Amino acid sequence: MEDLGPVAWPPAPIRTERLVLREPETRDRPVFVELHASPEVHSFLGGPRPRAELEREMPEAPGKWPGSFVVERDGDMIGQVLLRRATEHRRPAAAGKVDLGYLFLPRAWGLGYAAEACTAALGWLADVLPGEPVVLTTQTANTASMRLAAKLGFTEVERFEAWDAEQWLGIRAPA
Ligand SMILES: CC(C)(COP(=O)(O)OP(=O)(O)OC[C@H]1O[C@@H](n2cnc3c(N)ncnc32)[C@H](O)[C@@H]1OP(=O)(O)O)[C@@H](O)C(=O)NCCC(=O)NCCS
Repeated sequence: MEDLGPVAWPPAPIRTERLVLREPETRDRPVFVELHASPEVHSFLGGPRPRAELEREMPEAPGKWPGSFVVERDGDMIGQVLLRRATEHRRPAAAGKVDLGYLFLPRAWGLGYAAEACTAALGWLADVLPGEPVVLTTQTANTASMRLAAKLGFTEVERFEAWDAEQWLGIRAPA
């Protein structure tokens, strides 16, 4: 995966009904550690990383690259939405396309925040890189993620085996 390349970055903070999407800042570091050390968050993502390793190795301002949004609710980071270029995706249908990823803290699940934030990020993408389809890969066992993908308008391209699990590759046509 690579970042989105030459897009105007960072954008002005994007405001939705309940959330703000913005560039990561140094004050987000503890939440990034929490996100990546959480066994719940990484149930379908190959397992969490050890907290001590994250504390040691996480950059001062993690995730600071074009297409990496921190999602904030009432001033607190609750998750991350990632738009990257899947330059070396293992499935030819996805290679080179923009790829959507999302990670939210368990306390922010089940409230529609991920859907609200991803919709806003996809809207931003349609403005800065019009006409681009977006792909998404998730484990089929990750039912919350599968529901979110459908809600966002992704449709199935194929299922495939990787990382010891069945994966779902979806695509969303440009608006
Ligand atoms: C995948 C993930 C982001 C989904 O989060 P989520 O909170 O379930 O997703 P949504 O924002 O779509 O919220 C969904 C629920 O909020 C409910 N909800 C409550 N209040 C709502 C509101 N005001 N507006 C909209 N939905 C609301 C919906 O009914 C919905 O429930 P349902 O899916 O049972 O029908 C989250 O589980 C996660 O971070 N998982 C770990 C990381 C991960 O696996 N990422 C996938 C990598 S590709």
